[in-house]
Amino acid sequence: MKETNGESGNLVKRILLLPGDGIGPEVVDAARRVLQVAVDCTDRGLEFEEGLIGGAALERTGEPLPADTRVALDRVDAVLLGAVGSPRWDQAPVDKRPEKGLLELRATLGTFANLRPVRTYRPLLVASSLKPQVVDGVDIVVVRELTSDLYFGKPKERRGEPPNRSAVDTMYYHESEVERIARVAFELARERRKQVTSVDKANVLCASQLWREVVTEVAQEYPDVTLRHMLVDTAAMQLVRDPRQFDVLLTANMFGDILSDEAAILTGSIGMLPSASIGGRVGLYEPVHGSAPDLAGKDQANPLGTILSAAMMCRLSLGWPDIAEAIELAVADALNAGYHTPDLPGSPAFQVGTREMADVVIDYLERRLFANPTKRRSDRVSGKRQDLVQWEAG
Ligand code: NAD
Ligand code: IPM
Ligand code: MN
Repeated sequence: MKETNGESGNLVKRILLLPGDGIGPEVVDAARRVLQVAVDCTDRGLEFEEGLIGGAALERTGEPLPADTRVALDRVDAVLLGAVGSPRWDQAPVDKRPEKGLLELRATLGTFANLRPVRTYRPLLVASSLKPQVVDGVDIVVVRELTSDLYFGKPKERRGEPPNRSAVDTMYYHESEVERIARVAFELARERRKQVTSVDKANVLCASQLWREVVTEVAQEYPDVTLRHMLVDTAAMQLVRDPRQFDVLLTANMFGDILSDEAAILTGSIGMLPSASIGGRVGLYEPVHGSAPDLAGKDQANPLGTILSAAMMCRLSLGWPDIAEAIELAVADALNAGYHTPDLPGSPAFQVGTREMADVVIDYLERRLFANPTKRRSDRVSGKRQDLVQWEAG
């Protein structure tokens, strides 16, 4: 699946970094450093600019998505976001919450298709709360509709005063919205194992009945792809009973939010999951996890979901599939060598913080991108990483 057909390998690309809140700045910094090394090792050029979003933006400007950030969207090729959300704003009305900034960003860009790949890595099979034999070989992409549904349907409001308070959110879909996300899922399935499981609650919800109808219509154009429908409650159960049955999991906005967090645990940690939001003005790339306030500023967050999101950005928005693959392989190299952040089990000798995990990925990345390994920056090789030192020596 290609977002752009960027053949322009030598052009300088511009990235808007939106670190946001909590662990956002730490994981975005990790991914930025990985990207910088990738372009330094090749003939590509990358310029970064940084903007405000979420609680960080509310504090400085009073808005969760300030005008400066909106304007910056017009001069970049892609956006890399950390996370939004902070306990400081927990009591704020929905329009003045950090999360509103992210929703507005998605709506402003028009990124209606959120791809959340879920694949397990051999060294992390024991990290999952499920049995290794259940999660071994899991390779799913959740295709989540991102700009409609309960998140954006109107009316959406609080009403009345105690003791007569009520509230409404509206589950709304237009058939064109269902059709375009269904197409993304079928096209993607064609490049994979040719199976789409469409998730809904058509036994109860009108919006889901329309969803199922339209997905079935779109399927007629893809006779080579197998479609099945599954109710969301069953899907939640099947995802942990036998996750390997799924190839492309097509969902509405709300169901995809919930099921992708559940699916993350197949990989061992929510910190592992990347995402790409495409179909809009420019692609938006962000890890699936949130701002993890409990970890903020402690150098403990797993940066791999964000680093893998940066890889998706290289593939889908920058036209750099070779760099995307090298980053993904470097992440696998780091895991295969035993490195892990504290959210994942493993040998204490190989437990590293956010920064060091990025350093390890960078070392493996350089090894993959450089013909001449002596160009590698030896100052990044700490005492712990004997495997790298030995590799360099031998
Ligand atoms: P969360 O994803 O932030 O954290 C859930 C749990 O996972 C926590 O125990 C956290 O420590 C852990 N975790 C998350 N990311 C991790 C990482 N990279 N490495 C290691 N551990 C990690 O979800 P939450 O606690 O429900 O939400 C916290 C805030 O984040 C809320 O304000 C919420 O709205 C926001 N949020 C934002 C996004 C986003 O920006 N895309 C996504 C989800 C939640
Ligand atoms: C996600 C998050 C967001 C969502 C929130 C923070 C608005 O949970 O990206 O999964 O619900 O889409
Ligand atoms: Mn979520």
